[in-house]
Amino acid sequence: MNKYPSKDPVLVTCGLPYASGEMHIGHLRTYVPADVFVRLLKKMQTEVVFICGSDTHGTPVVTTAEKLGVTPKEVYEKYHKHYLETFPRLGIGFDTNSTTNDPENRHRTRQLVSTLQENGHIYAKDLESPFCDQCGRSLPDRFVRGKCPHCGADARGDECDQGCGRYLEPGEILNPRCAICDSPTRPVTREHYYFKLSAFEDFLKDFLTNMDGTKNARNYALGWVKEGLRDWCITRDLNWGFKFPGDENLTLYVWVDAPIGYMSGTEIWSKKIGKPKEWEKYWKPGNGRLVHYIGQDIVYHHCIFWPAMLKGSGYNLPDAVVASGMLKIEGHNFSRGRGYVVWIKEDYLDKGLDPDYLRYFMVSGTSQTKDLDFSWQSLADKVNNELVATFGNFIYRGLHFTKKHFGEVPKGELDPNLRKEIEKTIETIISATNEYELKKVSDAILRLASVGNEYFQANAPWKLVKADKDKAGVVLYNAIALTKALAVFIEPIMPTVAERIWSQLGLEGSKVHEVPLEEALKLPKVGAKLGKPIPVISKIDDKVLADLKESISKRVKAAEAAERGETEVEEELVSFDDFKRMDIRAGKILEATKVPKTKKLLKLEVDFGSEVRVIITGLADQYKPEDLKGLTALFLTNLEPKKIGGIESKGMILAVEKADEPGRWIPVTIEGVPPGSKAA
Ligand code: MF3
Ligand code: ZN
Repeated sequence: MNKYPSKDPVLVTCGLPYASGEMHIGHLRTYVPADVFVRLLKKMQTEVVFICGSDTHGTPVVTTAEKLGVTPKEVYEKYHKHYLETFPRLGIGFDTNSTTNDPENRHRTRQLVSTLQENGHIYAKDLESPFCDQCGRSLPDRFVRGKCPHCGADARGDECDQGCGRYLEPGEILNPRCAICDSPTRPVTREHYYFKLSAFEDFLKDFLTNMDGTKNARNYALGWVKEGLRDWCITRDLNWGFKFPGDENLTLYVWVDAPIGYMSGTEIWSKKIGKPKEWEKYWKPGNGRLVHYIGQDIVYHHCIFWPAMLKGSGYNLPDAVVASGMLKIEGHNFSRGRGYVVWIKEDYLDKGLDPDYLRYFMVSGTSQTKDLDFSWQSLADKVNNELVATFGNFIYRGLHFTKKHFGEVPKGELDPNLRKEIEKTIETIISATNEYELKKVSDAILRLASVGNEYFQANAPWKLVKADKDKAGVVLYNAIALTKALAVFIEPIMPTVAERIWSQLGLEGSKVHEVPLEEALKLPKVGAKLGKPIPVISKIDDKVLADLKESISKRVKAAEAAERGETEVEEELVSFDDFKRMDIRAGKILEATKVPKTKKLLKLEVDFGSEVRVIITGLADQYKPEDLKGLTALFLTNLEPKKIGGIESKGMILAVEKADEPGRWIPVTIEGVPPGSKAA
């Protein structure tokens, strides 16, 4: 039995990205299918709301802020803005995109946590957790690294991110070290607050057994419940986030207020549309359905913590959790540090690449629950061999030929076989949506395009048009009918491509985004004027492809060099003419004295043969004046004069940094060369 199309309204959410970095291709493994699912529901005339937002709390944002030397608020505002600008460029259209630091989320989090307290689901207990004496602070979550107690992999404080993927409780990690300074840690004890997760085991077994969505989410979560659940520490010793309502010295763990962002985001949307109670339709028990799209790495949080929190506070429960497999890059796990990363803005959108290609790749690459391997080559193969060769080719040929010989939709009737093919495609699209397996949708569409190509080839309208123009017209009428169906079907996956087709079909007055699936069976109007034929999809050519490939390999090589401790040689080149303009000469240091009231400055009097100049250097923290006096060194002598420490300096001593002592600079000295000699 199909659940969709449904009379009940549906709320679709996407895992809220941490607002601590830019959008990368891994994010799209979740956001694109979610957007396609929402557009498919709209095509089935099901009422649907689509919610996302930025996750602004927790140690990911704090560690980024510390690295950049700015406040956590500045970090999340910057990246939230980035997300707000980037999602629409990909055709991903949320009804609202708020942040977990918004007042609505503060209020809803307080209300929900207080209800959990009133209902007896929270208690206080002493917790021993790591403290770093070097940094002088306690180390929650990502501030600590160590060994996973379950599988032995190197792990983060709250997550075995490189091994078994389990959530880790504070204090649980083995051999903890400070993630910032790498010092060993010392355990300290203080009171924290726990959510009685263990009391929800029976509820969760039952809930998960009946939960819709993908099997991976259900099965992983059921496995963990069967192993037995421990209570969940929901407070942290951290200076960023919402205060815990029962003890203002403690901060709520980010995974408490983050999913509540789904709820407060819906409230914000309700206000925006002028129906402030509309959110209750989804979040209070009733008929509204919640569907969460997430990455497989956060199944624990969405299938265990979250339903228990909702149950304990009397809210509606998720109807489905759809967990996507991870995205790999050229067979490697996503890793910023090792260079295996593709940034959506910088590496894709800003290069003018079509977002619809990437949308198609994300959906058609593999099953929702499997890992998907991205490479520029496989993207180009998909675009060139599937989209251009099969889909685009059929549409372009039909439209081009009809326009040329008729200029409008010719007279004809829909071939019963083709009608059946269109009907079959609708059925497949509906059942695939119900299974949350969108690859089956794109496969069905490509298949229909192949049927079209075969029909075109078999009926050879380019021959018919000479022998029997009316008959040729009937063939082209069918090609146009099929083209219209393909535009309707492809819209959820490739919205701009669909628009491009629609504009050529002469269907004024309707929008391909708004028509239902059944529109695919509505026949084209005979005599409708066709627009100018333009190819709907273009190839990714070899030159572009080569550049794209190089961008990854360069990044990976740079990361490998950095790993070996080599610093990257700057790419920007200086022309030979620029170099010739530099006057580098030998100079003998006659006098060296400290510049008063400064720490680092030394005043040198340097003999260049024809004149003695004053040159200021910043080497006083490393050299005593008497070390430098008498040396002959290389100087850049035609540098613009500049006042340093109140004294005019006419040149610069050339120095190199010592390899084994970073920060220590040695003047480039020479012996036996008379002052004033030119170096080049
Ligand atoms: N920010 C989290 C992550 O990137 C996801 C939060 S999802 C929510 O892993 F449910 F908590 F909102
Ligand atoms: Zn593990």
